Amino acid sequence: MFDGAGASISFPWTRYRNALAASEEEDYNFYQQRSPFFFQGETRNQRVFFKVWRIGDLNISEEEIKNEISFLRRARVKGVSVPHIFDKLTTKVSTATNLVFHVLGMSHAGSTSIIEKKWTTVLLYLFSLSQNVEKLHKEAGIIHCDIKPDNVAWVESTKNVKILDFGHAQMIEKTALVRGTKGLEAPELLQGVKNSCATDAYSVGATVEWQIQHCLPSSNDPETSDVSSVQSLVHEIVKGLLKSEPEFRMTLQAASMRLEGFISQQPFFAITGRKQGFRPALEQLAIK
Ligand SMILES: Nc1ncnc2c1ncn2[C@@H]1O[C@H](COP(=O)(O)OP(=O)(O)O)[C@@H](O)[C@H]1O
Ligand SMILES: [Mg+2]
Repeated sequence: MFDGAGASISFPWTRYRNALAASEEEDYNFYQQRSPFFFQGETRNQRVFFKVWRIGDLNISEEEIKNEISFLRRARVKGVSVPHIFDKLTTKVSTATNLVFHVLGMSHAGSTSIIEKKWTTVLLYLFSLSQNVEKLHKEAGIIHCDIKPDNVAWVESTKNVKILDFGHAQMIEKTALVRGTKGLEAPELLQGVKNSCATDAYSVGATVEWQIQHCLPSSNDPETSDVSSVQSLVHEIVKGLLKSEPEFRMTLQAASMRLEGFISQQPFFAITGRKQGFRPALEQLAIK
């Protein structure tokens, strides 16, 4: 029933099949419209996350699904921070209802909102997001085309992001015009200009701006007065990324370099020696 599934993965297939069968009798269209579905599961050591498409769904072709998975895989191979993919789970599944599904099994990437509501965390989120989207462009040759808070997971323990959802992605050399998400897409896309590294850069700025508006500490948070330089750098870079004219917009490379320079000189950030970069020495922040 579930070809190739590792024995240790417990995916709630029974619950899934029952729900499917029940709803099919009640309202078949529900399942025609709602694809993909998402499930969380667990192995012995790891939380896993499944994105499940129904093959034959009118909204998405099998080719589009395969493209999404292959972009994700390519990004990973090129060193971009994305969820780990369980190869064996990327298979078709037949159920008792004779519907066929495509299952993408991934490691659970974390939360899509910044849980630790601090300016230093926003700065590290911006740094990791800029670095990884730049790597996606330069190393993998991919434009994501839908960078937004929902498509970026924040991993608190390592202070880095994981980029999700390659459903709109394109190879740089083959770009067509793909609309992203209203409010988070570069203004030139509305005028018919094609997606580019610069349109992704704008979305990085819009994503961080969203996090600032929704996830920041209140003004009486004692941390903010100590980190006004962090705050003003974040604002300066976000403003640069949100320039409406693409030719004047800050590049992700410039943003990453500016952030890296700043982080390496601040006493409250300590270099961890980890590949992904820096961590704030939070104890030091607390003493200040
Ligand atoms: N590997 C993952 N780990 C944790 N959460 C995930 C993972 N992949 C996706 N999600 C969550 O599921 C949501 C939908 O997944 P996404 O791939 O963006 O689908 P859609 O194409 O419907 O936007 C994401 O916004 C995110 O909250
Ligand atoms: Mg999404």
